[in-house]
Amino acid sequence: MMKIGFIGLGEISNENVLGYLDSKEAEIVAVCRRNRQAAEMWLEKWGIKNARYYYDYEDMVDSEKLDIVEILTPHHLHCEQAVYCAKAKIKGISLQKPMANSLAECKEIIDVCKENNVILKVYDNFIFYPVYTKAKQLIKDGLIGDLISIRINTMAGLKDGADWPWCFKPDSWRADIDTCGVGPLVGDDGYHKFSLARWFMERDIEKISAWIDPETYLDAPAFIRAKFRRNAGDIPKYAQIDFSFSPKMALPFEFWLDDFIEIVGEKGIMWINQCSAAGNRKMFAGNLMSKSPVFPPIAVYLDGKVTTYMEEINDQERNWSTSFIAGTRHFIDVMARGGDPMYTGEEGMEITRYAMAAYLSAQEGRDVFLDELTVEAEKGKLFKIKDNFCRF
Ligand SMILES: NC(=O)c1ccc[n+]([C@@H]2O[C@H](COP(=O)([O-])OP(=O)(O)OC[C@H]3O[C@@H](n4cnc5c(N)ncnc54)[C@H](O)[C@@H]3O)[C@@H](O)[C@H]2O)c1
Repeated sequence: MMKIGFIGLGEISNENVLGYLDSKEAEIVAVCRRNRQAAEMWLEKWGIKNARYYYDYEDMVDSEKLDIVEILTPHHLHCEQAVYCAKAKIKGISLQKPMANSLAECKEIIDVCKENNVILKVYDNFIFYPVYTKAKQLIKDGLIGDLISIRINTMAGLKDGADWPWCFKPDSWRADIDTCGVGPLVGDDGYHKFSLARWFMERDIEKISAWIDPETYLDAPAFIRAKFRRNAGDIPKYAQIDFSFSPKMALPFEFWLDDFIEIVGEKGIMWINQCSAAGNRKMFAGNLMSKSPVFPPIAVYLDGKVTTYMEEINDQERNWSTSFIAGTRHFIDVMARGGDPMYTGEEGMEITRYAMAAYLSAQEGRDVFLDELTVEAEKGKLFKIKDNFCRF
């Protein structure tokens, strides 16, 4: 049985825990959080018996013989904690996104993990969401032809008490560029949207041009355009990644966002409705958007006809939490039987650069080529993300 330790028991720990709960190969044996009572309540809530509590993650790492550590803390702590765990030779590190707040830190994590034979997974659950994996399979089968563009539209709303009001307090680590490194929409949640664009297109991005309104109190509205690198024989491929924020809009989701994707191919168009707020989320009894025929999981226009897919999926499977369960099981599988984790450190660093490029582009009002964003250029202060477009 692999022994798992959790560092940080905040909001996302309630999703990262799910894939371990009924695992026959891994069990949570230790947790670390700054508030003992809250940690005990968390263990009770998830029915985890016999796990030990630690105040300091170093104590946990030094005292336990852990096989995997889940790092679920604010971004500015990721590098320090991942490096400590790697030097302690914990075999597997699952690190929540974004990997770190600078490219130098990303590189340090990758290097120290390699030196100590540690398997590093940078966590992105969205690429394990069953509707997205089905959509990707349909595309790979050639349904809509070679891809031309992808538009990912993320809409955020707060009405009816989404559980994330601290995001909007001026003292939140998420609003502070020194701790978050980025803003809550384009950089934090946006990591997943850049990841999805790259995953569907199976290409890295070459350049990014972004406009983020500096007059609003969050990093939205934001409109980000990207052009992908071309392989030999490729047609050009593009992405448009948008964020909006509607403070009076009720979404059936504690995390305040939902996602809508449109993918244009040479032969047809695919729409993918909802991810984060789909299925049986707890905020509303039932989820009328997911039940509406107007928002089928997948709709495809091809040759004059519209076909829908996955309408038979039940609310449980359509729930965003299934992506966390699948993401965690994937890592348990890699640790037990080998293979590359999704994502590797190198991929995690690549995607971390995309959000940096978007802020830099919006800040400087120009196209940013990803080749500009290197560790050396960062060290030489040739670029710096000074603005996360949060104005409280
Ligand atoms: N995959 C996703 O969809 C998703 C969604 C939300 C958050 N996240 C990521 O998860 C991570 C955590 O986000 P969150 O929303 O859970 O944040 P949070 O603020 O709710 O929780 C952070 C946790 O870290 C703990 N912590 C802070 N300093 C610590 C320290 N020095 N040692 C040990 N623990 C410490 C806090 O006590 C808290 O339990 C971030 O990297 C974030 O980007 C991912």
